[in-house]
Amino acid sequence: MRKKIVAGNWKMNKSHDEAIELIQSIAASSYEESIHLIVFPPTVYVSEITKITASTEISVGVQNSSQYDAGAYTGEVSSSMIKSIGAEYALVGHSERREYFNEQNDELAQKVNQLLSDGLTPVYCCGEVLKEREDENHFNIIKNQIEEGVFHLNENQIQNCILAYEPVWAIGTGVTASSGQAQEMHQFIRSLLVEKYGIDVADSISILYGGSCKPSNAKELFGNPDVDGGLIGGASLVAEDFIAIANSFG
Ligand code: PGA
Repeated sequence: MRKKIVAGNWKMNKSHDEAIELIQSIAASSYEESIHLIVFPPTVYVSEITKITASTEISVGVQNSSQYDAGAYTGEVSSSMIKSIGAEYALVGHSERREYFNEQNDELAQKVNQLLSDGLTPVYCCGEVLKEREDENHFNIIKNQIEEGVFHLNENQIQNCILAYEPVWAIGTGVTASSGQAQEMHQFIRSLLVEKYGIDVADSISILYGGSCKPSNAKELFGNPDVDGGLIGGASLVAEDFIAIANSFG
């Protein structure tokens, strides 16, 4: 059985006090035990947040990490540092990192390697922009992002990754991929995994959907056989909404 995961990407939001209040509200909420919750706060708050989540089943991750091990890389935070403050997950290649920080697949592959070698779980994100979908090029784009970002990994390594499909045109726009569009792409991603690693490995990897996922549409999205949960942006900033999404599995 694949893990059902609901992950909250807080992006560059919340003051220190607001961030602590948010995690405390999430930690105090009740949700289906079989669902794994992960929060991705801004890195500066992670140390304090992991102390709060230590007595819960909630996991913590960061939104970005360096592809380098250590040394003279001003402004960067390494995966071993992240691990040492209690985080276990890291987003890799979120579309905002690809777009605003020009992150390319080869650099993202290095980040994945660095995280795995430090014992963290990468959540590798992929997604097409609107033009690519309109041009009916979306399957090629996703194939390329997946192949170049994670297909150098061996069977064991890929099973320590989570994938997230986030159509860029649906992120923060209020436009959600239809349930059918989400399932179609998730099924395609899983078929790539089957081809490369075989059915057993492909069946064990969680693929999350992201892009304007909210309490009103989560149930339909999560009802799809290849959608194993969500990577939630805006709605993860309100504890009630985040928990309502976590309680949306059938
Ligand atoms: P959104 O963001 O839920 O606000 O669309 C999703 C994401 O960027 O991870």
